[in-house]
Amino acid sequence: MTLICVASPKGGVGKTTLTANLAYTLQRQGFNVTVIDFDSQDALKLHFGIAFNDTQGYVVEAASTPYWGEMARTTASGIDVLAYGSTTREQRHRFETFLASDPRALYQALSGFYNSPNDVLIVDLPPGHSVALEAVCQLKPLCITVLMADSASLAVLPSIESGGFYPESVGRHLYYVVNQLDLRNDLSRDVYALLKERLKASLLGSIHRDAAVSEAHALQVSVLQHAHTSAVVNDIEAIAHNLIRLMQDAELSQVRQEGE
Ligand SMILES: Nc1ncnc2c1ncn2[C@@H]1O[C@H](COP(=O)(O)OP(=O)(O)O)[C@@H](O)[C@H]1O
Ligand SMILES: [Mg+2]
Repeated sequence: MTLICVASPKGGVGKTTLTANLAYTLQRQGFNVTVIDFDSQDALKLHFGIAFNDTQGYVVEAASTPYWGEMARTTASGIDVLAYGSTTREQRHRFETFLASDPRALYQALSGFYNSPNDVLIVDLPPGHSVALEAVCQLKPLCITVLMADSASLAVLPSIESGGFYPESVGRHLYYVVNQLDLRNDLSRDVYALLKERLKASLLGSIHRDAAVSEAHALQVSVLQHAHTSAVVNDIEAIAHNLIRLMQDAELSQVRQEGE
């Protein structure tokens, strides 16, 4: 099984969209995919046909449910979704206390997901530092940092590279994706060239900016279904391909070994 964590110091860069599109793409490649939302915005579910006013989620019961697999919802796509759900401040506080309490608590909660090498668990995190990021990083995930080809993303790169963003426990599996790339824009092109040079092999790929991505979201379908001719589909498939190569690396059967 592989644990993939999608994070960024920045909001609005496309973490949730990437989580969903990777889930759809990896599932089409034959993986058994589960996604977990750690962001109280509860937006990941919208990519899987769960209605906005459907408030059910795992967070409220998380601390008292030893194995979270019980709370996963199988969606029409076949992808299992742990939606954050609608929560009060107090419930969020209790959840975060649980996550912070014991590094093994999260490992135990996710344990049933580790059955087969075919299992992929993708975690969507809130922007910036969070209790969830600290807890998930203890499990040595394969981390994908989502950036955009803009000056704001360039500005946060030194803090990521110097270890100021991910906790020390994260290990060495740090990768990047550049999203919303617009090659018609001079600045975007220049920043992208810089990022490519700087990130080298840790850059898993880039995704073009395309209105089809937001349209697919509004229609509650995957971009693969909505606009299969969009360059974005090729972009995501290339990233999934690179991920699969990394997942096949024996060292990345991480959680089982690290958690035991
Ligand atoms: N490649 C893309 N092209 C066009 N719009 C995109 C792309 N990726 C994401 N978006 C849009 O950007 C916005 C923010 O994306 P989201 O995934 O919610 O970001 P985050 O989870 O990082 O806050 C959404 O409206 C989404 O539809
Ligand atoms: Mg998000």
